[in-house]
Amino acid sequence: MSTAIWNEAIDATRNAAGFGGATGLESLEMGAARIRVDDKRIINCRADLNQLVPFKYKWAWQKYLDACANHWMPNEINMAADIALWKDPNGLTEDERIIIKRNLGFFSTADSLVANNLVLALYRHITNPECRQYLLRQAFEEALHTHAYQHVIESLGMDEAEVFNMYREVPAVARKAAWSLPYTQSLGDPHFHTGTPADDQRLLRDLIAFYVIFEGIFFYVGFTQILSMGRRNKMTGTAEQFQYILRDESMHLNFGIDVINQIKIENPHLWTEPFKQEIIHMIRDGVDLEYTYAVDTMPRGILGMNAEMFKEYLQFIANRRCVQIGLAQQYPGAANPFPWMSEIMDLKKEKNFFETRVIEYQTGGALNWDE
Ligand SMILES: [Fe+2]
Ligand SMILES: [Fe+2]
Repeated sequence: MSTAIWNEAIDATRNAAGFGGATGLESLEMGAARIRVDDKRIINCRADLNQLVPFKYKWAWQKYLDACANHWMPNEINMAADIALWKDPNGLTEDERIIIKRNLGFFSTADSLVANNLVLALYRHITNPECRQYLLRQAFEEALHTHAYQHVIESLGMDEAEVFNMYREVPAVARKAAWSLPYTQSLGDPHFHTGTPADDQRLLRDLIAFYVIFEGIFFYVGFTQILSMGRRNKMTGTAEQFQYILRDESMHLNFGIDVINQIKIENPHLWTEPFKQEIIHMIRDGVDLEYTYAVDTMPRGILGMNAEMFKEYLQFIANRRCVQIGLAQQYPGAANPFPWMSEIMDLKKEKNFFETRVIEYQTGGALNWDE
């Protein structure tokens, strides 16, 4: 029997046995019973996935609406001051240039990796239309983020090959991407299905690796460094791009946490003691890798920050991530040395520069048929 036929036979057997969930590509079943809210589940749901309503997970739909209301485009941001500063031989110190380059090196490929995880590994196994609606929006936002990094790299006239190859050439950048790949490869296997406790844990592991650690820890040294530069009036266009991206990323993280917690509620048998220990180990590893990245990107303290402050910041963030998914804090007493980062993230608290642009999108996006 050829491998393809063999695999098809395995798929058919697994589906007949009730493994895994629907994909949305099944043949239509004429006259089948209508979808009821109670039929819906985040994983292993076999109800029709092409019907968005009735809503069960209103938080997912609301996040989709909020994300659309926050729409922005990288090429709207004025990069003129950054270009002048970058090209001025006395504009920035060598340490400041390292920070800009390393972060563009990390993020320019990291967001493609996140997008590929979403569409090629995760999406198929999330069996809920309102969550998928958000995943589609998130995938587009990841494309916008890659666009933003490319826009900065091109505006500054950087060596594109050098920047885009950093994740294969600079160890501190490579280590973070390499750490995450096995988790997405595990789900990206076309013959992988959820449906057994071990396979459902594989899915949860990927969700935690990407949402909680990759987007929830690995982004934070870079965001803090670039935003700190913007606060000192340097590379303000680049910092503004990062600020929009951070706003999107905090929503990605919150969506991921809601999905993880909902899967836990619906499948409490997955959250075993050994599994929790494994996740704690992953989070602690993530903190160590991101700390290495902080040391590598800022060998000497600059901008009022140093690698030791990042150690505490990462521990503070990791504590929050643990609590968000129901684990004990791993670094008791860690404080936040960068309280201004929370202010930037908590955008609803006060009036800020995002509001104008958001309103422009909400009211200025109507079609004009006069021409
Ligand atoms: Fe992103
Ligand atoms: Fe993201």
